[in-house]
Order: sequence, then C-alpha cells, then structure tokens
Amino acid sequence: MADKGNKKGGSGNRASSLSGGQRQMRTTVKTARKRSVSSARWLERQLNDPYVSASKREGLRSRAAYKLREIDARYHFLKSGQRIIDLGAAPGGWSQEAAERVKAAEGKGQVVAIDYLNFEPITGVEIIEMDFTDPNAEDLLKSHLRGGRADVVLSDMAAPTVGHAKTDHMRIMGLAEAAAAFAADVLEPGGVFLCKVFQGGTERDLLDALKRDFKTVRHVKPPASRAESSELYVLATGFRGRTEPEAG
Ligand SMILES: C[S@@+](CC[C@H](N)C(=O)[O-])C[C@H]1O[C@@H](n2cnc3c(N)ncnc32)[C@H](O)[C@@H]1O
Repeated sequence: MADKGNKKGGSGNRASSLSGGQRQMRTTVKTARKRSVSSARWLERQLNDPYVSASKREGLRSRAAYKLREIDARYHFLKSGQRIIDLGAAPGGWSQEAAERVKAAEGKGQVVAIDYLNFEPITGVEIIEMDFTDPNAEDLLKSHLRGGRADVVLSDMAAPTVGHAKTDHMRIMGLAEAAAAFAADVLEPGGVFLCKVFQGGTERDLLDALKRDFKTVRHVKPPASRAESSELYVLATGFRGRTEPEAG
C-alpha cells in the first residue's frame, strides 16, 4: 500500500529500457515509516512487472496465467475439446487460460478446478472448494469429469511458505507427489501432467515414477517465472496408461 502524504514514503517515475528496445516508465518505491524494506521491494516489483500490467489489461486473474501460456506456446499440449484438471487453481489464471484453450465455455472441452481458497466463478470452469489432500477430493474431481478421465492434469499448488527452506521444499514436493499419483490414476493414455516443483528439479523417486509412467519428462522454467524464484515446472507428456493391479 502506498503511504500517501508521508514525506518519507512516495514513489517516483524514471524511464528504463526493456530488452525489446521499448521504453517504459519505471516506478521506484521508497521505504516509508510503516513499510518494511521487503514490502517496498515487493511493491516496486509489482509496479514494474510487465506481466502484472499485461494481466490487468487482459483481465486475467493472475500473472501466473502467462507461465501456462508460455509453456504451452513451446510444447503445444492444450487443445480444443480436452478435459483439464487444475489443482491449486485460485485465483484462477491457469483455469482462465485453460478454459479458453479447450473451448470450455462453448461446451467442447472441460476444466475442473480445485483450491481450498474461494475464488470468483469463471465461465466454463467447474470449481471445487476443497483441500486436494482431503480423502474425498480425488473422487469428487473424477465425478466432475466427462467419462471420469482427464487429458491434462495441471498443478500449480504451493503451500504458504514458512521461510524454512527445507520445510518449504518438502511441503511443495509432497503436493507434487500427490498430484503425480492422481495424474497416473485419472489420465487417459497419451495424457499430460504439468506440475510446479522446486529448483534443483524433481526428487529422484518422483522423477523415476514420472519416467516410468510418461514417454517424455522435462523441466521447464518459463520466462514469466521470476528468475530469483526457486520455482520450476515438470512437464510429463505421453502418459503410457494405467498399470492395473495384478489379479489374484
Ligand atoms: C501459486 S497459487 C496458484 C495460482 C494459479 N495457478 C493461478 O494461475 O491463478 C497456488 C495455489 O495452491 C493452492 N493450494 C496449496 N495447497 C493446496 C491444497 N492442499 N489443496 C488445494 N489447493 C492448494 C493455494 O491455495 C494457492 O491458491
């Protein structure tokens, strides 16, 4: 929040050049008495982030939508008519992007989204407000899917960080493992799994499971993912199909 009228606070504009050769006004934020250095840095980053301004212009719920857009622009896995699961969907940027790509509003594709946070409805998206780790969540998600199967499982799930790197890493990897297990249960053969992981890549066990279940597994860092963030995505394509438990 800007502290209007505080002489120590305030912001100023100066021009800086972008890599594309364009020039845009850069806003600097000075720390005010009531604003910590880190919140001033956050505000300055928001004000100068081209993805934040572009998402506002386009009416997107979050700048995160560009991460999905950029990954898909490179690997082309979102297609009209697909059934998509979006795990950790609030405030809805990925769901908006996915709904548009699969033509959910036109009734061609389908997007089923889950988050324990409430978020505004999106045309063509079925929203479940629930913790994905709730024992009923997976069955509920499946019951919303046409034919009970998905073509793509997306997970941008991230638990709130506690500031302890090892704990934060373990929590995000726990969510990624749960998402991967669900993907292996719900995807159609040929299906796709895209999931947020941490820098350093996917844990050995998870990576081995993904390599067993999918033809291609790669790590992706889209330009919209901040360079200083340890966030990374794993993209697994060409699901080999479920291995049914052996009879007897
Ligand atoms: C980075 S945000 C997702 C942003 C979203 N992809 C977008 O484009 O707007 C991560 C989300 O994961 C959700 N999340 C974390 N753990 C979850 C869980 N166990 N079940 C459901 N949602 C969860 C958080 O509530 C948060 O909204």
